[in-house]
Amino acid sequence: MKMNRRSFVKFAGLGALAAGALNPATAMADFSHLRSSRRLKILILGGTAFLGPALVRYARSHGHQLTLFTRGKTNANMFPDLEMLVGDRDGDLEALKNRDWDVVIDTSGYVPRVVGDSAKLLAGHVQQYIFVSTVSVFADFSKPGLDESSPVAVLDDETTEEVTGLTYGPLKALCEQAVQKEHRGRSTTIRPGLIVGPMDRSDRFTYWPVRISQGGEVLTPEGPDVVTQIIDVNDLAMFIVKCAEENITGTFNATSPAEELTMGEIFETCKTVSGSDATFTYVSPEFMAEKELHEWSDLPVYVNLDGPEAGHPYINVDKALRQGLTFRPISETIRDTLDWWRSVSQERQDRPMRSGLTAERETEALEAWHQKNG
Ligand SMILES: NC(=O)c1ccc[n+]([C@@H]2O[C@H](COP(=O)([O-])OP(=O)(O)OC[C@H]3O[C@@H](n4cnc5c(N)ncnc54)[C@H](OP(=O)(O)O)[C@@H]3O)[C@@H](O)[C@H]2O)c1
Repeated sequence: MKMNRRSFVKFAGLGALAAGALNPATAMADFSHLRSSRRLKILILGGTAFLGPALVRYARSHGHQLTLFTRGKTNANMFPDLEMLVGDRDGDLEALKNRDWDVVIDTSGYVPRVVGDSAKLLAGHVQQYIFVSTVSVFADFSKPGLDESSPVAVLDDETTEEVTGLTYGPLKALCEQAVQKEHRGRSTTIRPGLIVGPMDRSDRFTYWPVRISQGGEVLTPEGPDVVTQIIDVNDLAMFIVKCAEENITGTFNATSPAEELTMGEIFETCKTVSGSDATFTYVSPEFMAEKELHEWSDLPVYVNLDGPEAGHPYINVDKALRQGLTFRPISETIRDTLDWWRSVSQERQDRPMRSGLTAERETEALEAWHQKNG
């Protein structure tokens, strides 16, 4: 079965706030200035897997005081010097009761009922609720230029709580709405594209730096000029903390600017950064279809721009750019990703990656490609 982006990335959205519109909270310039210059008390609902640790590191470097709320299952001892509250956002919010924070950053919300519970409990106890959503909220990726006012996907059955490739996006859209309902004018919705960098468990970006660093002939999709969009986890963390410090509210797409990054640039930079002897063999979409080499999963980060996903790498991020979203060079992201990968256990490095081709499949496909094309 062909996986399209909807089924593997999982998307959704909310056409709520008009792009660029200032709400009353955003317009409080003096208040924003005060906020940025003082130490914030920040609660993270989550914080220990991928985006969370980047947020913690960056917020701490700015002197903010952090509390993390988790079930204590994922990297529970990662931050021994932080206040760690233990509970379960699905049904056990006891540890959050009667406490006040300046800002809550919600990185772990997927089901509207559950997100609604924490949003309700924290209403009146935080000044700002920052919800990490996703670009997957959008209803239709066929056209370029999706912005924050574009329609979001809607579920046939809005009561479902099963998070799948198909429901992830529309459920996230409902989560956004649950937060906005409880924190009207005081919430920030961040919609990242593919998040990449150290600690990513999906291997969706990591595959390329790791594979290319190993050298030899690398099977690559379509052609070097195909565009894509990603966001470095640390750039995203910086933007989210900026939203907290400056009390920036509203909805923001957060990924790299459209039409700036190509697959070829990623591949060539991986080669330069790792100093490998890799060569790239670009295979056609027809060949990929024939060999069942799926975009995004077998050939991660890449999406075939013919068809229903044609608008996928053209998401409009102007609104976030105006509020100060910045991007490090792709070489830095690749170097950080490789450094991190080399620091993980040998056992993890030896396990098959969660995205990309195994060596056997790649060799087999390259042989077939050469046979076919002389
Ligand atoms: N990865 C991407 O490319 C991508 C793209 C777009 C958007 N996003 C969004 O970005 C966010 C990133 O997530 P992340 O995993 O990197 O965040 P994270 O904050 O680093 O990790 C998730 C945290 O949530 C906690 N958690 C999970 N279930 C919980 C529960 N029931 N109650 C309390 N705590 C719970 C986990 O700890 P315990 O397990 O110990 O509870 C962990 O600390 C997600 O919202 C995702 O939808 C991701």
